[in-house]
Amino acid sequence: MKNAVLLTGASGGIGTAFAEEFAKAGQNLILIARSTEKLADLKQRLESTYSIQAETISADLSDPAAIEQIVQFTTDRGIAIDVLVNNAGFGDFGPFADCSWEKQNEMVQVNITALIHLTRCYLKPMIERGNGKILNVASTAAFQPGPLMSVYYASKAFVLSFSEALSVELKGTGVTVTVLCPGPTKTGFEAKAELGDSGLFKNLRVAAPQDVAAFGVDRLRRGKVIAVPGFLNRLIVFVSKLSPRAVVRNFVYYLQK
Ligand SMILES: NC(=O)c1ccc[n+]([C@@H]2O[C@H](COP(=O)([O-])OP(=O)(O)OC[C@H]3O[C@@H](n4cnc5c(N)ncnc54)[C@H](OP(=O)(O)O)[C@@H]3O)[C@@H](O)[C@H]2O)c1
Repeated sequence: MKNAVLLTGASGGIGTAFAEEFAKAGQNLILIARSTEKLADLKQRLESTYSIQAETISADLSDPAAIEQIVQFTTDRGIAIDVLVNNAGFGDFGPFADCSWEKQNEMVQVNITALIHLTRCYLKPMIERGNGKILNVASTAAFQPGPLMSVYYASKAFVLSFSEALSVELKGTGVTVTVLCPGPTKTGFEAKAELGDSGLFKNLRVAAPQDVAAFGVDRLRRGKVIAVPGFLNRLIVFVSKLSPRAVVRNFVYYLQK
Protein backbone atom coordinates (compact mmCIF):
# COMPACT_ATOMS: atom_id res chain seq x y z
CA MET A 1 0.00 0.00 0.00
CA LYS A 2 1.50 3.35 -1.08
CA ASN A 3 -1.42 5.71 -0.42
CA ALA A 4 -4.31 5.49 2.01
CA VAL A 5 -7.18 7.18 3.76
CA LEU A 6 -6.42 7.33 7.49
CA LEU A 7 -9.72 7.04 9.37
CA THR A 8 -10.25 7.30 13.14
CA GLY A 9 -13.32 5.87 14.83
CA ALA A 10 -13.67 3.20 12.14
CA SER A 11 -15.08 0.47 14.40
CA GLY A 12 -18.70 1.63 14.34
CA GLY A 13 -21.37 4.14 13.34
CA ILE A 14 -20.43 6.92 10.93
CA GLY A 15 -16.79 5.71 10.83
CA THR A 16 -17.68 2.26 9.48
CA ALA A 17 -19.94 3.95 6.91
CA PHE A 18 -17.03 6.22 5.89
CA ALA A 19 -14.80 3.16 5.44
CA GLU A 20 -17.39 1.61 3.13
CA GLU A 21 -17.64 4.84 1.06
CA PHE A 22 -13.88 5.09 0.53
CA ALA A 23 -13.51 1.36 -0.16
CA LYS A 24 -16.30 1.57 -2.75
CA ALA A 25 -14.23 4.22 -4.53
CA GLY A 26 -11.17 1.90 -4.51
CA GLN A 27 -9.22 3.80 -1.83
CA ASN A 28 -6.96 1.91 0.59
CA LEU A 29 -7.65 2.42 4.27
CA ILE A 30 -5.93 2.61 7.63
CA LEU A 31 -8.64 1.88 10.18
CA ILE A 32 -8.19 3.14 13.75
CA ALA A 33 -10.16 2.55 16.97
CA ARG A 34 -9.82 0.63 20.25
CA SER A 35 -12.07 -2.32 19.28
CA THR A 36 -9.52 -4.68 17.72
CA GLU A 37 -11.98 -7.38 16.67
CA LYS A 38 -14.42 -4.99 15.02
CA LEU A 39 -11.54 -3.48 13.03
CA ALA A 40 -10.33 -6.94 11.96
CA ASP A 41 -13.85 -7.90 10.81
CA LEU A 42 -14.21 -4.63 8.89
CA LYS A 43 -10.80 -5.05 7.22
CA GLN A 44 -11.71 -8.57 6.14
CA ARG A 45 -15.12 -7.54 4.82
CA LEU A 46 -13.82 -4.53 2.88
CA GLU A 47 -10.86 -6.39 1.35
CA SER A 48 -13.05 -9.27 0.22
CA THR A 49 -15.81 -7.01 -1.18
CA TYR A 50 -13.73 -4.30 -2.86
CA SER A 51 -10.30 -4.46 -4.50
CA ILE A 52 -8.55 -2.45 -1.80
CA GLN A 53 -6.07 -3.03 1.00
CA ALA A 54 -6.81 -2.12 4.60
CA GLU A 55 -4.58 -1.95 7.67
CA THR A 56 -5.80 -1.69 11.25
CA ILE A 57 -4.30 0.09 14.25
CA SER A 58 -5.77 -0.57 17.71
CA ALA A 59 -5.21 2.68 19.55
CA ASP A 60 -6.79 4.66 22.37
CA LEU A 61 -6.81 8.26 21.14
CA SER A 62 -7.19 9.61 24.68
CA ASP A 63 -3.55 8.54 25.15
CA PRO A 64 -1.12 11.01 23.49
CA ALA A 65 1.25 8.08 22.78
CA ALA A 66 -1.34 6.73 20.32
CA ILE A 67 -0.56 9.51 17.84
CA GLU A 68 3.16 8.60 17.84
CA GLN A 69 2.16 4.95 17.33
CA ILE A 70 0.00 5.84 14.30
CA VAL A 71 2.62 8.11 12.70
CA GLN A 72 5.31 5.46 13.29
CA PHE A 73 3.11 2.86 11.59
CA THR A 74 2.62 4.92 8.41
CA THR A 75 6.23 6.17 8.32
CA ASP A 76 7.72 2.66 8.72
CA ARG A 77 5.64 1.42 5.78
CA GLY A 78 6.15 4.51 3.62
CA ILE A 79 2.40 5.08 3.30
CA ALA A 80 1.37 8.54 2.09
CA ILE A 81 -1.86 9.74 3.70
CA ASP A 82 -3.80 11.60 1.06
CA VAL A 83 -7.06 11.73 3.06
CA LEU A 84 -7.21 12.16 6.84
CA VAL A 85 -10.60 11.62 8.46
CA ASN A 86 -10.79 12.69 12.11
CA ASN A 87 -14.05 11.00 13.02
CA ALA A 88 -13.51 9.42 16.48
CA GLY A 89 -15.43 11.17 19.21
CA PHE A 90 -18.03 10.80 21.92
CA GLY A 91 -20.29 12.81 24.23
CA ASP A 92 -21.58 12.74 27.79
CA PHE A 93 -24.99 13.77 29.10
CA GLY A 94 -25.71 15.45 32.44
CA PRO A 95 -25.03 18.59 34.50
CA PHE A 96 -21.34 19.51 34.45
CA ALA A 97 -21.17 19.70 38.27
CA ASP A 98 -22.11 16.00 38.51
CA CYS A 99 -20.05 14.65 35.62
CA SER A 100 -17.10 12.30 35.72
CA TRP A 101 -13.97 14.43 35.33
CA GLU A 102 -12.12 11.48 33.79
CA LYS A 103 -14.74 11.18 31.04
CA GLN A 104 -14.69 14.94 30.24
CA ASN A 105 -10.90 14.92 30.12
CA GLU A 106 -10.88 11.87 27.86
CA MET A 107 -13.47 13.60 25.63
CA VAL A 108 -11.26 16.66 25.20
CA GLN A 109 -8.31 14.39 24.37
CA VAL A 110 -10.24 12.40 21.74
CA ASN A 111 -12.53 15.11 20.28
CA ILE A 112 -9.93 17.90 20.22
CA THR A 113 -6.31 17.01 21.04
CA ALA A 114 -6.00 13.84 18.94
CA LEU A 115 -7.75 15.63 16.03
CA ILE A 116 -5.38 18.59 15.96
CA HIS A 117 -2.33 16.42 16.64
CA LEU A 118 -3.07 14.05 13.73
CA THR A 119 -3.79 17.07 11.52
CA ARG A 120 -0.44 18.61 12.52
CA CYS A 121 1.40 15.35 11.74
CA TYR A 122 -0.10 14.72 8.28
CA LEU A 123 -0.68 18.28 7.03
CA LYS A 124 2.96 19.19 6.22
CA PRO A 125 3.52 16.17 3.93
CA MET A 126 0.21 16.97 2.18
CA ILE A 127 1.31 20.57 1.58
CA GLU A 128 4.71 19.37 0.30
CA ARG A 129 2.98 17.02 -2.18
CA GLY A 130 0.57 19.79 -3.19
CA ASN A 131 -2.51 17.70 -2.53
CA GLY A 132 -4.49 16.22 0.32
CA LYS A 133 -7.88 16.30 1.99
CA ILE A 134 -8.85 16.50 5.64
CA LEU A 135 -12.33 15.69 6.92
CA ASN A 136 -13.06 16.65 10.53
CA VAL A 137 -16.28 15.45 12.12
CA ALA A 138 -17.93 18.11 14.29
CA SER A 139 -21.72 18.23 14.80
CA THR A 140 -24.68 20.60 14.54
CA ALA A 141 -23.82 20.97 18.26
CA ALA A 142 -20.89 23.10 17.10
CA PHE A 143 -23.23 26.01 16.36
CA GLN A 144 -24.80 26.38 19.84
CA PRO A 145 -23.85 26.16 23.52
CA GLY A 146 -25.17 22.86 24.91
CA PRO A 147 -26.45 22.88 28.48
CA LEU A 148 -26.33 19.29 29.87
CA MET A 149 -23.64 18.41 27.31
CA SER A 150 -21.50 21.48 27.83
CA VAL A 151 -18.05 19.99 27.18
CA TYR A 152 -19.23 17.99 24.14
CA TYR A 153 -20.85 21.01 22.42
CA ALA A 154 -17.81 23.16 23.22
CA SER A 155 -15.48 20.48 21.81
CA LYS A 156 -17.42 20.46 18.53
CA ALA A 157 -17.43 24.29 18.40
CA PHE A 158 -13.63 23.99 18.64
CA VAL A 159 -13.53 21.52 15.73
CA LEU A 160 -15.68 23.80 13.57
CA SER A 161 -13.67 26.93 14.37
CA PHE A 162 -10.30 25.18 13.92
CA SER A 163 -11.33 23.62 10.60
CA GLU A 164 -12.69 26.88 9.18
CA ALA A 165 -9.53 28.77 10.17
CA LEU A 166 -7.30 26.08 8.64
CA SER A 167 -9.28 26.09 5.40
CA VAL A 168 -8.30 29.75 4.89
CA GLU A 169 -4.62 29.15 5.75
CA LEU A 170 -4.51 26.35 3.17
CA LYS A 171 -5.86 28.31 0.19
CA GLY A 172 -3.64 27.74 -2.84
CA THR A 173 -1.77 24.76 -1.33
CA GLY A 174 -3.82 22.00 -2.98
CA VAL A 175 -4.94 20.81 0.48
CA THR A 176 -8.55 21.26 1.60
CA VAL A 177 -10.33 20.93 4.94
CA THR A 178 -13.97 19.97 5.27
CA VAL A 179 -15.89 19.96 8.54
CA LEU A 180 -18.89 17.64 8.64
CA CYS A 181 -21.63 18.68 11.09
CA PRO A 182 -24.21 15.89 11.43
CA GLY A 183 -27.37 16.10 13.51
CA PRO A 184 -28.59 13.09 15.53
CA THR A 185 -27.52 9.89 13.75
CA LYS A 186 -28.32 6.26 14.57
CA THR A 187 -24.99 4.94 15.90
CA GLY A 188 -23.45 3.89 19.21
CA PHE A 189 -23.23 7.60 20.16
CA GLU A 190 -26.54 7.83 22.08
CA ALA A 191 -25.69 4.91 24.41
CA LYS A 192 -22.08 6.00 24.92
CA ALA A 193 -23.21 9.54 25.84
CA GLU A 194 -25.73 8.03 28.29
CA LEU A 195 -28.48 10.18 26.76
CA GLY A 196 -31.14 7.99 28.40
CA ASP A 197 -34.37 10.03 28.69
CA SER A 198 -32.94 13.13 27.01
CA GLY A 199 -35.24 14.59 24.35
CA LEU A 200 -32.37 15.07 21.89
CA PHE A 201 -32.83 11.87 19.88
CA LYS A 202 -36.60 11.84 20.51
CA ASN A 203 -37.40 15.39 19.35
CA LEU A 204 -35.28 15.44 16.21
CA ARG A 205 -35.12 13.32 13.05
CA VAL A 206 -32.41 10.67 13.39
CA ALA A 207 -30.33 10.07 10.24
CA ALA A 208 -28.75 6.84 8.98
CA PRO A 209 -24.93 6.77 9.30
CA GLN A 210 -24.60 5.67 5.64
CA ASP A 211 -26.39 8.84 4.45
CA VAL A 212 -24.28 11.06 6.71
CA ALA A 213 -21.01 9.46 5.55
CA ALA A 214 -21.96 9.60 1.86
CA PHE A 215 -22.82 13.30 2.22
CA GLY A 216 -19.52 14.00 4.03
CA VAL A 217 -17.39 12.20 1.43
CA ASP A 218 -19.18 13.98 -1.41
CA ARG A 219 -18.54 17.41 0.16
CA LEU A 220 -14.92 16.40 0.92
CA ARG A 221 -14.34 15.50 -2.74
CA ARG A 222 -15.82 18.84 -3.79
CA GLY A 223 -13.57 20.72 -1.33
CA LYS A 224 -16.48 22.32 0.57
CA VAL A 225 -15.58 23.83 3.95
CA ILE A 226 -18.75 23.31 6.04
CA ALA A 227 -21.03 20.34 5.37
CA VAL A 228 -24.32 20.02 7.28
CA PRO A 229 -26.31 16.96 6.13
CA GLY A 230 -30.11 17.20 6.02
CA PHE A 231 -32.44 20.12 5.27
CA LEU A 232 -33.80 20.27 8.84
CA ASN A 233 -30.29 20.42 10.31
CA ARG A 234 -29.34 23.22 7.90
CA LEU A 235 -32.51 25.09 8.90
CA ILE A 236 -31.73 24.68 12.63
CA VAL A 237 -28.18 25.97 12.08
CA PHE A 238 -29.49 28.92 10.02
CA VAL A 239 -32.14 29.88 12.59
CA SER A 240 -29.74 29.53 15.52
CA LYS A 241 -27.27 31.90 13.79
CA LEU A 242 -30.00 34.55 13.50
CA SER A 243 -31.42 34.12 17.01
CA PRO A 244 -30.19 35.85 20.20
CA ARG A 245 -27.64 33.68 22.08
CA ALA A 246 -29.80 33.68 25.24
CA VAL A 247 -32.73 32.23 23.29
CA VAL A 248 -30.54 29.61 21.61
CA ARG A 249 -28.86 28.29 24.78
CA ASN A 250 -32.17 28.07 26.64
CA PHE A 251 -33.82 26.34 23.69
CA VAL A 252 -31.04 23.72 23.56
CA TYR A 253 -31.54 23.07 27.27
CA TYR A 254 -35.29 22.63 26.70
CA LEU A 255 -34.62 20.26 23.80
CA GLN A 256 -32.11 18.12 25.67
CA LYS A 257 -33.53 17.81 29.16
N1 LIG B 1 -24.35 9.92 16.27
C1 LIG B 1 -24.66 11.19 16.35
O1 LIG B 1 -25.81 11.57 16.65
C2 LIG B 1 -23.62 12.25 16.03
C3 LIG B 1 -24.06 13.56 15.71
C4 LIG B 1 -23.11 14.52 15.42
C5 LIG B 1 -21.76 14.20 15.43
N2 LIG B 1 -21.35 12.93 15.74
C6 LIG B 1 -19.92 12.64 15.75
O2 LIG B 1 -19.66 11.61 14.82
C7 LIG B 1 -18.44 10.96 15.17
C8 LIG B 1 -18.63 9.46 15.09
O3 LIG B 1 -19.51 9.06 16.12
P1 LIG B 1 -20.66 7.97 15.90
O4 LIG B 1 -21.95 8.66 15.96
O5 LIG B 1 -20.36 7.11 14.74
O6 LIG B 1 -20.55 7.19 17.29
P2 LIG B 1 -20.03 5.69 17.63
O7 LIG B 1 -20.85 4.70 16.88
O8 LIG B 1 -20.03 5.65 19.14
O9 LIG B 1 -18.55 5.66 17.07
C9 LIG B 1 -17.51 6.36 17.71
C10 LIG B 1 -16.18 5.89 17.15
O10 LIG B 1 -15.13 6.60 17.85
C11 LIG B 1 -14.22 5.65 18.38
N3 LIG B 1 -13.63 6.12 19.64
C12 LIG B 1 -14.28 6.59 20.74
N4 LIG B 1 -13.40 6.81 21.73
C13 LIG B 1 -12.18 6.46 21.24
C14 LIG B 1 -10.88 6.43 21.79
N5 LIG B 1 -10.63 6.80 23.08
N6 LIG B 1 -9.85 6.01 21.03
C15 LIG B 1 -10.07 5.60 19.75
N7 LIG B 1 -11.27 5.60 19.17
C16 LIG B 1 -12.33 6.02 19.91
C17 LIG B 1 -15.06 4.38 18.63
O11 LIG B 1 -14.22 3.24 18.59
P3 LIG B 1 -13.84 2.29 19.85
O12 LIG B 1 -14.93 2.42 20.86
O13 LIG B 1 -13.69 0.95 19.22
O14 LIG B 1 -12.53 2.86 20.31
C18 LIG B 1 -15.98 4.39 17.40
O15 LIG B 1 -15.33 3.81 16.30
C19 LIG B 1 -18.08 11.48 16.57
O16 LIG B 1 -17.06 12.46 16.46
C20 LIG B 1 -19.37 12.11 17.07
O17 LIG B 1 -19.13 13.12 18.00
C21 LIG B 1 -22.26 11.95 16.02
